[in-house]
Amino acid sequence: MTTRPSPSAPDPLASHQGDASLPWRELASSYESARSRVDSLDNLVEWPAQRTMLGDVDGMSVLDLGCGNGGKLGILAKEGATRCVGIDVSAEFIEDPPPEVQLIAGDFNQFDTVPEIAEHEFDRILFLQSFGYAQDPVGILRRARSLLSDDGFILLTRTQPIRYALQRAEENGTLVGDEYFASGEFSYASGWNDQVTMTKQRYTTSSLLNTFAQAGLWIEAATEPHLSDEQKRAFPEKHAWANRYLAGILIFRLRPLPSLPAGTASP
Ligand SMILES: C[S@@+](CC[C@H](N)C(=O)[O-])C[C@H]1O[C@@H](n2cnc3c(N)ncnc32)[C@H](O)[C@@H]1O
Repeated sequence: MTTRPSPSAPDPLASHQGDASLPWRELASSYESARSRVDSLDNLVEWPAQRTMLGDVDGMSVLDLGCGNGGKLGILAKEGATRCVGIDVSAEFIEDPPPEVQLIAGDFNQFDTVPEIAEHEFDRILFLQSFGYAQDPVGILRRARSLLSDDGFILLTRTQPIRYALQRAEENGTLVGDEYFASGEFSYASGWNDQVTMTKQRYTTSSLLNTFAQAGLWIEAATEPHLSDEQKRAFPEKHAWANRYLAGILIFRLRPLPSLPAGTASP
């Protein structure tokens, strides 16, 4: 089932989404067609590694924040997940999702206003390459933590930050360390559609880890998936590009600590 704002209603996406999310309305179709290529990093390494970290989903409820077209939830439903809810600002969803899958057009920064999310518990909560669009990263993780069922966990992935530093250093003629440790925002032409400019907050590995700690989460497992030797031989251009920019993602399985850090209020 797909839930979109009615054409006559005020656009709930336009009023809430942060600037960083805005390009996704233009970018979604380019992203999905790039992702579906046989040699996309998502196809080759990212989704297989995400799927492995997720483990058995039989009988589970899954919330996917920034779900893209919802195709990954469709796969999880076929593999036994019984209630799958996805929300995405781009609102470009797969046709006829399985009955267990509900896809909602909306801004995950406002998910408290979405009853299908805010009034339920979930066994698994996913931020797959979408966490960079959170306006309040600690706040949204705390809220997600509060929706987890007993034994639930959050699976969160982010681009390896050194990759952005390498690309900016190459473009700007600067040094990798200076770029990695700089603060503030940076903008770049999207690799999926160079007509679209993306803007992101800079981050480092430690800032990401501190965000998890402040949200009352501990890292049960982490991985940095990369091309296998066989894939390197089959896709030498992808191998060269991945090597040059340390292109890839960090994947974290995050579980709630029994309580939030001292001095912080619960959401
Ligand atoms: C890099 S794509 C990842 C899509 C999908 N999770 C995957 O792994 O293929 C980032 C996704 O986050 C979505 N997104 C960005 N900002 C959002 C927001 N504020 N609320 C909901 N979705 C958002 C985009 O529309 C896009 O589909």
